[in-house]
Amino acid sequence: MNPAPVKRGKFIVLEGIDGAGKSTHIDFIAATIRAVHAVEVLITREPGGTPLAEKIRALVLHDPMDVRAEVLMVAAARLDHVQRCIGPALDRGEWVLCDRFIDSTRAYQGGGGGVDLSWIDALHLQVCGSVIPDQVILFDLPAEIAAARRGARGGSADRFETQDVAYFERVRDVYRNRMRPNGREKTAIVNAELDVSRIQIDLEKIISSL
Ligand code: TYD
Repeated sequence: MNPAPVKRGKFIVLEGIDGAGKSTHIDFIAATIRAVHAVEVLITREPGGTPLAEKIRALVLHDPMDVRAEVLMVAAARLDHVQRCIGPALDRGEWVLCDRFIDSTRAYQGGGGGVDLSWIDALHLQVCGSVIPDQVILFDLPAEIAAARRGARGGSADRFETQDVAYFERVRDVYRNRMRPNGREKTAIVNAELDVSRIQIDLEKIISSL
């Protein structure tokens, strides 16, 4: 007799402008998923998540390049990540919690950098058409406040973190006006201006509803 098929896991993506607080909440989200749904959770990130994609990440974050080259490089990283990491984990029945995915490309290269969104969407469909997030959690806050938080955090900034407030407002606009061409992606917007404990209450509700 064949063994019962493993139920495919869920794919959860965190999005938001730099300084919105994704890193503060990712471990809490993973722990809550494990507690509520009793599943294995794989935490990963974009660009990155595989040895090849991490090399591409270093280039995209630090080497000056045309914004269309950024799109192509994050797409190449995403292809490797989906093929070798995200897809197999979902097939094993694990849940995947990914720090950024396609909406980052739409928001940063599309909104911030001015690349045609329909080109980004078409490329994405070629790269990982069947891997669509079950839930996107957007940490939303004004660009001005995010910039102040990044300043307070200190440390060395990458090519994106040094962009001005106007750039991040455009990034935020694309996030907030996200198109859902396939209509299957669920999006929850979290008010990232609130206290950490208040945000955690919202996150628990989102995760329980999955
Ligand atoms: P981020 O995920 O915020 O990592 P850290 O917390 O280490 O700063 O940084 C990744 C950067 O990559 C972020 O500034 C946005 C950028 N990015 C794009 O521009 N396009 C993309 O498609 C992705 C996935 C990320």
